[in-house]
Amino acid sequence: MANILLTGASGYLGGSILAQLHNSGDGGIELPAHGTIYALVRSDAQAQAVQDYGAKPAAFDPGDEAAIEDFIMDHKVSIVIWFIDVVNVDRQILFIRALAKLRQQTGKDVHFLQAVGTNNTIIALAEELGVKSYIIAPCIVYGKGLGFGNQISAQTVAIVRAAKEAKRVYRVDDNSPTWPVCHIRDNTSLYIHLLATILSESRNPGHGKQGYYLPSPGSIVWDDLYSRMAAALAKKGIVDGEQTTLADDEALEAMGRGLKCPKAFVRVQLAGKCTLTPKNGKESLGWVPNFTPEHILETAEAEVELILKHI
Ligand SMILES: NC(=O)c1ccc[n+]([C@@H]2O[C@H](COP(=O)([O-])OP(=O)(O)OC[C@H]3O[C@@H](n4cnc5c(N)ncnc54)[C@H](OP(=O)(O)O)[C@@H]3O)[C@@H](O)[C@H]2O)c1
Repeated sequence: MANILLTGASGYLGGSILAQLHNSGDGGIELPAHGTIYALVRSDAQAQAVQDYGAKPAAFDPGDEAAIEDFIMDHKVSIVIWFIDVVNVDRQILFIRALAKLRQQTGKDVHFLQAVGTNNTIIALAEELGVKSYIIAPCIVYGKGLGFGNQISAQTVAIVRAAKEAKRVYRVDDNSPTWPVCHIRDNTSLYIHLLATILSESRNPGHGKQGYYLPSPGSIVWDDLYSRMAAALAKKGIVDGEQTTLADDEALEAMGRGLKCPKAFVRVQLAGKCTLTPKNGKESLGWVPNFTPEHILETAEAEVELILKHI
């Protein structure tokens, strides 16, 4: 039976998946028969926590080629779920190579799942080596994480961090762009549907260039999200008023300080236009989201409170 290695189990996305796999009764999805779920950890506390969630801790350096190969081969790990720094590709290459080696030895399919980032390299290398790759594209993920570690997301957190420093919620684009959103539970459930489909063996979910998945019920306009979050932040006295205005250079500098990045990178973290529309999740996995896109707006105040508790 297929053994699975989950990385980033103490993080927002990976931790939510581990929790949902463990609590499949809580609206979760039961996986078909599978082997052991291993979770990569880097402290004793994390090792204990993942065991509490029914996973076996794995402690090795994810940048050490020999250690990766030993682990994958010794434990016959045929599915890797990647959540560590998706923007850099170096470590993923080593895991894909190790999976390919296992496939050569066993003759059985091997799979690599990761959030979008360095997707072209992943797809090309995985195809060349016979590893099935799946790229899960990024949304504005929101809602309280379900895992034992980080429980807050990225983009909504960026809006709060930038606003705290700039003392106002600023718009960065002047043309009201849209971006897909996804509640953490729906995001998690797409990963688990994908895993379940891979494990079922009778079905063959799209992979490689056909293996893009967008866990999202649809898009919202960033400006609407800014306005709702600004109202919540103003109520708490974090910003000077709930009006949102277009950021000038000085505002971008302040937002960059809050985000610990140069002003040119502010837009990447909390603005921009994404026109992707979801298709494969529903059509090839039977995944159905529970939350509407507008839910993020309706719950913006709770999201702000959650974030303020954690930063
Ligand atoms: N959240 C989103 O909405 C979103 C959307 C699209 C893409 N992404 C990307 O997806 C990835 C996961 O997102 P996330 O929100 O779950 O991030 P997160 O909460 O920051 O979690 C990152 C995880 O990676 C682990 N990690 C980092 N460096 C490691 C290393 N050298 N060895 C072992 N583990 C290491 C962390 O472990 P420790 O707890 O020990 O630090 C943590 O478990 C990130 O690359 C993020 O940029 C996120």
